[in-house]
Amino acid sequence: MTAAGLPMAVPAQDLPARVRIHEVGARDGLQNEKSAVPTEIKADFIRRLAESGLTTIEATSFVHPKWVPQLADAEQLFPRVRDLEGVALPVLVPNERGLDRALALGARRIAVFASATESFAKANLNRTVDESLAMFEPVVARAKEEKIHVRGYLSMCFGDPWEGPVPIAQVVRVCRALLDMGCHELSLGDTIGVATPGHVQALLAALNESGVPTDALGVHFHDTYGQALANTLAALQHGVTTVDASAGGLGGCPYAKSATGNLATEDLVWMLHGLGIETGVDLGRLVATSVWMAAHLSRPSPSRTVRALSHKES
Ligand code: HMG
Ligand code: MG
Repeated sequence: MTAAGLPMAVPAQDLPARVRIHEVGARDGLQNEKSAVPTEIKADFIRRLAESGLTTIEATSFVHPKWVPQLADAEQLFPRVRDLEGVALPVLVPNERGLDRALALGARRIAVFASATESFAKANLNRTVDESLAMFEPVVARAKEEKIHVRGYLSMCFGDPWEGPVPIAQVVRVCRALLDMGCHELSLGDTIGVATPGHVQALLAALNESGVPTDALGVHFHDTYGQALANTLAALQHGVTTVDASAGGLGGCPYAKSATGNLATEDLVWMLHGLGIETGVDLGRLVATSVWMAAHLSRPSPSRTVRALSHKES
């Protein structure tokens, strides 16, 4: 470690020079919080994340407010942050009603969210897998007409709390459907954090074999079993350059009980900078943001890097 609280940079072979971090703390991180976080705190959180150098910050979801009460203030929040300079602010949109709401506020990037398993599709979207794909089709078509960037999330790519291990062919089928529909990029979700590095590489290889290029793929790891960083490294070795993470390791999914926090952005940045990979993120500012957010949530951040660096400062 250097004196400034940064890792010593020692590059490894065959890794990308730069990684784009897709920050999900304000959406995936907060959606599971039981007590309502005030809209102004969420807006400050997003502004601070932007000041830390993050350039893709998922802001909120235009879902049914009864399904995710914490994000019921999307209409109030989005206008407070939408003019942030140099920052893309994707929002989750499950259906045309959600798209109408997002478009009315000027959103320029959306994400639809599918499931590789029937159980989670039912729990999260009240639809079968194919019914949810049918629900997304007009959303993606309209978004493309409006020249809006569409990300397609796919949950339960590795294991599912009701169905157990998920066959790779099942994941590939839904990925292909999302891309064929017109999604610009996919994010492969390990919703309950059960993936291991060999499984990650096997899925990426199977997707390539089915014609999906690696540069259309991002990875989205939850850290339930402490595998998120190892899985990320496996994905980087395969050529993936988009990695989802949540500041401070906030997170979970209200409709998958065994999901814990996402990979912490600080832990990711520590590893990437240690590998000499550029992210554009100022780690010190990001840690300070997560310490600030942890104070609002009245519990310490689960991120090891946040704990180590904030302890060092105090
Ligand atoms: P439904 O109950 O089947 O809805 O829910 P519906 O289509 O039957 O409509 C019922 C009523 O809801 C109607 O109103 C609609 O207008 C209204 P009524 O006519 O009865 O007055 N409605 C809406 N209102 C506001 N905004 C909307 C909306 N849509 C319908 N967008 C629905 C279906 C998809 C809406 C519901 O299941 C839902 O909102 N689900 C969202 C669940 C969610 O957000 N989960 C967390 C995100 S996914 C995740 O975290 C995983 C991820 O991180 C990756 C990973 O880790 O794997 C992305
Ligand atoms: Mg998630």
